[in-house]
Amino acid sequence: MTGPASGQTPALLDGQVALITGSTSGMGRVLAFRLAELGAEVIVHGRNEEAGAAVVDSIRTTGGRARFLRADLGSVDEVRGLARAIESAYARLDLLINNAGVGPGPDRRLVSTDGLELRFHVNYLAGYQLTHLLLPLLRAGAPAQVVMVASRTQSPIDFDDVLIESGFSGRRAYGQSKLAQIMFAFDLAPELEGSGVRINAVHPAPVMDTRMMEVLGARPQSTPDDGARSVLGLILSDEDWNGRYFHETELGTALDQAYDPEALARLREISRTLTAGSTGGRPPP
Ligand SMILES: NC(=O)c1ccc[n+]([C@@H]2O[C@H](COP(=O)([O-])OP(=O)(O)OC[C@H]3O[C@@H](n4cnc5c(N)ncnc54)[C@H](OP(=O)(O)O)[C@@H]3O)[C@@H](O)[C@H]2O)c1
Repeated sequence: MTGPASGQTPALLDGQVALITGSTSGMGRVLAFRLAELGAEVIVHGRNEEAGAAVVDSIRTTGGRARFLRADLGSVDEVRGLARAIESAYARLDLLINNAGVGPGPDRRLVSTDGLELRFHVNYLAGYQLTHLLLPLLRAGAPAQVVMVASRTQSPIDFDDVLIESGFSGRRAYGQSKLAQIMFAFDLAPELEGSGVRINAVHPAPVMDTRMMEVLGARPQSTPDDGARSVLGLILSDEDWNGRYFHETELGTALDQAYDPEALARLREISRTLTAGSTGGRPPP
């Protein structure tokens, strides 16, 4: 990947607006700081208001621009509310980083506020819904980018049991949600061709020492700064990547299912159904 890798070029993103979901902690928080350093106005997002306010305060202290918006991504209505709040405050969006996530631990089937399998809902479906809802703003911000923060941990989707009612494991649920994010990028990219909006997926870094890895009890292999560098490398690249999957800073290969057009279509259909009625008056994406 060519182009600058991290915040050494001040004001490169001057005048741009960036939304980073899940930026109250971990890699999202680091990305919020880096993007603000580069001149972007940052929309910090999460559920923890105190942590969100602390990130915003730190950014403002160093002269950056930021605000916090709270939304539970396990609720289709709250995702819609988040999109509305952004639409009412901004005329454009330059960067949407779908980063918020729930890790593989605990190894229990959990459900979202709406009663869907938690990892599928928060890690994938919310990003699918948010991206579609914010597409008009992204088009207004063109050239604009959507980044799906995925993972090298991927599991195939069983379309007869997408919400994993049987044979559940935290790793399977997490891996399925991460593959779904990549599949979404592959599926939407051709539609965006020529619009000035691009979408890509990236595995940022292995086992960063963040909260989700702490819950899992995994031994850290990298830091949130390492992961943020991969994401920034993609965002700041001179190449007009669209519909690609990156393993850290290199083009990567996802699980086979991501290259199956029939699987992409099935995932699209399921996602439309699960988010139907949550598009704020517009037809479901
Ligand atoms: N850590 C790794 O080794 C690793 C490796 C590969 C990929 N990734 C990916 O990198 C991304 C960031 O992970 P991280 O390790 O930085 O995680 P983290 O520190 O656990 O942060 C997760 C973020 O997601 C937000 N979040 C969780 N559930 C939410 C919900 N229901 N609604 C709204 N926000 C929610 C949290 O905000 P609140 O607590 O404020 O709700 C928090 O800001 C994830 O997509 C993850 O899958 C991580």
